[in-house]
Amino acid sequence: MYSEVARTARASSLPAVYKSKHVLPLIIIGIVVAGLTAAQALLIDWLPAATSEQAERTFTLLWVLFWCSTFFFTIVTAVLIYSIWKFRVSDDDLGDGPPIHGNTRLEVVWTVVPSIVLVVVAIYGYIVLQRNEAVAAGNLKVDVYAQQFNWTFGYTDAGFQTGTLVVPEGKQVELHLRARDVIHSFWVPEFGVKGDAVPGIDHVIWTTPTKTGTYPVVCAELCGVGHSVMRSKVVVLSQVDFDAWLAKSKGKVGSTTSTPATSTPAAAGTTAASPSGNATVGKTVFAASCTGCHMGDGTQDGGVGPKLQGTGLTLDLVTDQIKNGGATMPAGLVSGADEANVAAYVITLQK
Ligand code: CUA
Repeated sequence: MYSEVARTARASSLPAVYKSKHVLPLIIIGIVVAGLTAAQALLIDWLPAATSEQAERTFTLLWVLFWCSTFFFTIVTAVLIYSIWKFRVSDDDLGDGPPIHGNTRLEVVWTVVPSIVLVVVAIYGYIVLQRNEAVAAGNLKVDVYAQQFNWTFGYTDAGFQTGTLVVPEGKQVELHLRARDVIHSFWVPEFGVKGDAVPGIDHVIWTTPTKTGTYPVVCAELCGVGHSVMRSKVVVLSQVDFDAWLAKSKGKVGSTTSTPATSTPAAAGTTAASPSGNATVGKTVFAASCTGCHMGDGTQDGGVGPKLQGTGLTLDLVTDQIKNGGATMPAGLVSGADEANVAAYVITLQK
């Protein structure tokens, strides 16, 4: 048969006779494949701006891997497409293909080259991981508490907690991830770090912010009905601003502990008519710690927790709920004077 003769001829004398004929179409197909691959890489915003040292290293590694992959993908795909098109037998050709006993040189090349690439990539990845997890002396340690469905950040050394993570620019932050109920995952896309918070485990991750600004904290592990609203913020301040914030926050703790009377009347429930907490402060705390479940600062239906506005709640009920939890709401979401402050805010929603 003609086609089989032609095919045998092609297979046996391929390098010498067809070399020049194959190169140009292969290059054209390669350019098209590379162009399409590069376009979907460059036209879509795959990654946020890197705002930590770790993100800069990780994102660079990712792009190096991507362009290496594109290079080899282009070669393999171009040869594949060209072969399918050029060496396809006709539909009525039922004959056997030419007997081929492998090509040692080709097989050595396609084994050795990928092996070298893999080793280089593995070493590069290892170096990035080592640098990203190198512990800096005198870093800032923050406890991250995850629970359905909010984040709490504990500044252990300073002795207070917040609903928003505040960190200084240019200094390593050591985050101790802890879960109070189920598995959650702490993720700041701009920092390029993500870590699971698992009950019973102190999981440590490190990040060194490089740009001041406010970025989202996202829960990246399905943790229940409020998972999608389990969000917070991380605020990166300059070292000077951070020190001022830390001193101010410490000061607040001091005033709280020195005047325990602020929460005592509410707890006793004897002066239920007039809340003793500061509703304005309470609103800020509510926005940071409670809106993950109570939508619209407690004024809207549809959240994980109920709407709190106009429900006729008494101060005793609200205070008890904040202190002890109940239904799906855990106890201890806010502490200290903030219990009374948040209660005072919730009471303002009843008017
Ligand atoms: Cu916590 Cu999802």
